[in-house]
This record gives sequence, structure tokens and C-alpha cells, in this order.
Amino acid sequence: MTKKYILAIDQGTTGTKVLLVNEKTQIIDSAYRTHKQYYPEPSWIEHHPEEIWTALLEAVQEVMSKNNVQSTEIKSVGIANQGETCLAWQNDTGEPLYPAIVWSCLRTEDIVNEWEKEGAWKQQIYEKTGLHIDSYFSATKFKWLIDNVKDVNEQLEKGNATLATLDSWLINKMTGGKSYVTDASTASRTLLYNIHDEKWDKEILDYLNIKDAYLPEILNTIDDFGRTDPTVFCGIDAPIQVSLVDQPAALYGHLCLEKGEIKTTYGTGCFVYLNAGQSPTLNKDSSLLSSVTWKKDGESTFSLDGSIYSAGAAVEWGKNSLGFYESIDELQKWSMEWFEQEAFHSDVKFIPALSGIGTPYWNSDARGLFIGMNTKTNKKDMTKSILEGIAHRVADVIEELQKESGENVKFIKVDGKLTVNPYLMQFQANVLNIPVKVSQTVETTGLGVAYLAGERLGWWTPEELVNLNNTQETVYKPKITLEEKDQIRNEWKKIIATIDHLYN
Ligand code: G3P
Repeated sequence: MTKKYILAIDQGTTGTKVLLVNEKTQIIDSAYRTHKQYYPEPSWIEHHPEEIWTALLEAVQEVMSKNNVQSTEIKSVGIANQGETCLAWQNDTGEPLYPAIVWSCLRTEDIVNEWEKEGAWKQQIYEKTGLHIDSYFSATKFKWLIDNVKDVNEQLEKGNATLATLDSWLINKMTGGKSYVTDASTASRTLLYNIHDEKWDKEILDYLNIKDAYLPEILNTIDDFGRTDPTVFCGIDAPIQVSLVDQPAALYGHLCLEKGEIKTTYGTGCFVYLNAGQSPTLNKDSSLLSSVTWKKDGESTFSLDGSIYSAGAAVEWGKNSLGFYESIDELQKWSMEWFEQEAFHSDVKFIPALSGIGTPYWNSDARGLFIGMNTKTNKKDMTKSILEGIAHRVADVIEELQKESGENVKFIKVDGKLTVNPYLMQFQANVLNIPVKVSQTVETTGLGVAYLAGERLGWWTPEELVNLNNTQETVYKPKITLEEKDQIRNEWKKIIATIDHLYN
């Protein structure tokens, strides 16, 4: 019998993972390559797109040869991308004109501040895009490229360059320069996409001096993105049928397909996404983001999301800079002991605002804070407070999500490296007072891509995926009373309120 596979690509901030998935939704194998992070100035972060392309080719090659897969056995290719990270490339050569500017790069703060001064615009932008004016999104990064890189400006003027997110460039490379496309989920993280008209917003483009023609065409999340060119893409001649941002892909991978379902990914930062259903949730003075999470057959599903910037980053900092624990293994050992002793809650509190604070406070000047130490406080107490601080920040976002969406959230699904920490997960369940379901697969994002591609191939339907129920989960149920939870959360809220006073 001929074998058939989906090639699901998860192109993330730190590396590129390629999964080989069969007709039974099983991951046959995967391959992973990292790429370098470049910091040309403090708070600037760049990626070299060619390194990502090489990493992708190597990972595809590895997974195919290790499993003896013939190129004709690849029936569909799908890709998840790192969202707001973007670049400019030259159309006739396919070469980037400048490194990709990463989503977390803060180089456009001045453009943001200028834009925010335009009073009424601020609210209008939110109503049009579901996003707040912030350097996180691609729009100000595009403007920076036009204003600061001569080659970009010149080639755009000649009609020989494209401004786009990394999905677009990689699809262009995979198709041998034929496709100039993105999908609605990625477009809706640029701050240029009108979520009501479902196209690039003319007024915003005019304000930023960006022409429609500079940008890629916007397709559905499941669509015809072009065919891979076998001469450049490992001999594979297959349709690219799925493209979306990695966080929505993880939401799909968790099968959070019902309105009101939430997933949280605990990586360097934490990304919390709620499936908001078929219309955007826009509230006056909202601190959350509303974007297209996927678009199928012309119909968009929206999400409401919030982020915290330091999670895994704070855990690494506790080891590398503060020397609280020698290794992540040591942290894991302590965490297991605390978990088994049910030693929840410490007097020390830590606010993990190491590079500003995101939802719902949005203060990029804020910095971290330890509070509540006494002469008996030791490094283990400080360590515990780092884990608790992360869980509290996630609870801050989820409480806001519940408030704004009006959804009564019954559990959350979680993934990411930190979810192996039992103390963090139990504390998270306690401060939310709902179960936390930890996915046993680390490949939630790639699986989301594969699930969508399999739908296109007619291999399964969303209903069948949900009924299959083949996700193994570890469930942490709350172990404290509602009163205890309220008390812990109230103490936290008093402390986090000081951040606003300190950094305003
Ligand atoms: O918004 C940025 C986010 O999508 C990046 O996720 O997993 O690539 O760090 P990740």
C-alpha cells in the first residue's frame, strides 16, 4: 500500500520543527533545527531568514531520509509561523533586503509613541484591527524598514520588493518564487488587517505610507498557497494547503474548537488564547487582543488573547544570573518535593516583569520585583516565588479573558516546556480554581497544522478529531478552597498594583 504523509512545519522563534504525520493522525517522526538570535543593539532582536530556510531544508531532509520517505508520499505541506516577525525581500532574487525583525524587538518604540499621540486613532485602530498600537506587531516594523533601509525603499519604489511575515517568505521560497501569499490569521497580527472588511486597511496603510502592492495576498488558513518546487524543496512536489500563526495552530492542536476553550503555552513567555467564536470580542478599554485565529471556507474564527513576556525566561534567569539552582534538573527535583509535600504558597512574591509587563497592564518600562523577604528567606523560597509569579501572571490574563468574553471557563489546556514542572502546574490550578490539563505531546503546534491539512485532504473532519480523543493528558485539579484562592489572589493584586505606581 502506498504510504501518505503530511509535512507539518512549525517555524518558531528559536527553531524550526518538521513533523511527518500519517493518515491516522500519528506523528511518525520529527526533526528540529535552531537558528541564531541576533541582538545588534540592546532590545533589538533579528533573525537571518536564510538561516531559517537552511534549517527548514535540513529538518525536512532529515525526517524524510531517516524514515525512508519518498517525495511522492508527501501529500500536503502546512506551516505555522512565529506571528508578527517580518521582513522585506527582493522579488526578482527572492533575497531578504535586511534581517527579519522579531516580534519581541523594541526598535520601533518611537514610531509607536508618535502614532499613539494621534488621540482618536488609538481607539479606531483597535476597532479596526482588534489590536493595540504596539511595537509587538508588524506594522511599525514595516515602517521602520521603509524609513531606515535604503534598499528596501528603492526596491519597493521599483515594484520589486515585498513586505511580509516569515510564512510568506518561506512559502515564496518553497514555491520557487511563485507565491506571494499569507493567511488571515497571520495578516491579523500585522496591525494592518481590518478584521471586519477582511482586507488590508487602506487608512492605516496610508498613515504609515505603505502601499497595498507591497503586501502579500491574504488567503484562508486552509487554501491553495502554491506547490512546492522540487528543484529547491528536497525533491517534493506537493501542495501547500495550510498556513497560520503558531499560537492559533497550538489552539487547534489542543482541539480547542469550541467557543470559550482556552490554551496556554508556557515557553520563553506565556501565550494565552481563548476561542472567541465567529465574531471578534471588542470591548472599550480592553487590555486584550482580538484576532483571526483561523479562516476556513471564507469564515473566520476569532480568538481573544493575552501574553506575558517572561516565563521560561525568568526560570532561566533564576539559574543563570541568580544561581538559585544549578540546573533545571535541580529545580525539577525541588518542585517535585514541594508538590508532594503540598507546600503551596510562600511569603515571598515575585513579579516576572523582566522585560516589561504585558496583558493586562501593558507597561514596557516595568521591571521585575521581589517582595516579602525576611532573615530566614533562602534561595528555595525565592525560586518558588518565581514559579508562583508566572502562575499568577497567567491567572491575571485568564481572569481578564473571562471578564471580557463573558465565558465561564471550566478548564485550561496547556503545553510548553514549563508544563513538566508539577509545582507550577498545581499552583496554576489552585490560583485559577479550575483544572489544568497538560498535553502529553510536545508537538501541539505542529499537530494543529497537520490536523488542518488532513481536513483539506479529506482524511478526517474536526468532529472526528474531537471524537478520536487521542490526546493523553495529565490533569491538575485545584487543591485549595475558593476562600484560600481568593486570599492568595488578593495579596498578589495588591503587590502587582505597585508596579503601576513604580513605573508610571
Ligand atoms: O507572538 C509571538 C509568538 O507567536 C511566538 O511564539 O513559540 O515562536 O516563541 P514562539
